[in-house]
Amino acid sequence: MIKNNPGRLNGIKILITAGPTHEKIDPVRFIGNYSTGKMGYAIAEACAEEDASVLLVSGPVNMEAVHPGITRFDVTSANEMAEKCFGLFGECQAGIMTAAVADYTPGRKYSSKVKRTKENLTIELVPTTDIAAELGRRKRKDQVLVGFALETDEEEVNAQSKLKKKNFDFIVLNSLNDKGAGFGGDTNKITIIDADNNIRYFELKSKREVARDIIEKLVEYV
Ligand code: CTP
Repeated sequence: MIKNNPGRLNGIKILITAGPTHEKIDPVRFIGNYSTGKMGYAIAEACAEEDASVLLVSGPVNMEAVHPGITRFDVTSANEMAEKCFGLFGECQAGIMTAAVADYTPGRKYSSKVKRTKENLTIELVPTTDIAAELGRRKRKDQVLVGFALETDEEEVNAQSKLKKKNFDFIVLNSLNDKGAGFGGDTNKITIIDADNNIRYFELKSKREVARDIIEKLVEYV
């Protein structure tokens, strides 16, 4: 297909995080979450269709990045995702943080498989780096940072406080209370809240359409 007009994100480099992270316990076990990466990959495709150059830092997912405008970096743990993002953000004009990053990781990684005993087993978890918050601290005036929030209670209040705390320009809220929204499915129902406290509610839509709505907001900033 030959396109005549350049897309609205032509010349823009965008860092996108997607999927879950896996935090190793021992050689055969990890702590993870239900994120599939679908929303992040849909956003990556939609940005690339607008001619952005996309740097997709992806946790372990069963997804493929199809568009040639997407460069994919595979990582496993929160720590690896953080290192990759910190190295790449400086060269980008935008960051979209869709990943469901583990907040805690085992303090001790066993090098051999943990054997079953009759005793209780306690695994101490230590906090991981908050990637989005660190990028929010590093953000320059020419950069825009978009966050996601998945909430179960007091959704808007929690999303607004995350927006401030992590210095996002806007945040995409999806509620686990909404039918058809959240992990795994092909649809999502979002609310976008920006730093000026404009709030926009969207209908339940396919993740592809949701991605386009998010890009409509993003192009206001770049
Ligand atoms: N995020 C991140 N690195 C982390 C945790 C979260 O980059 N270690 C990003 C997510 O990608 C998302 C935003 O921060 O864009 C909010 O994530 P969320 O898990 O909802 O927020 P937390 O700060 O972990 O708060 P909580 O789990 O207590 O709700």
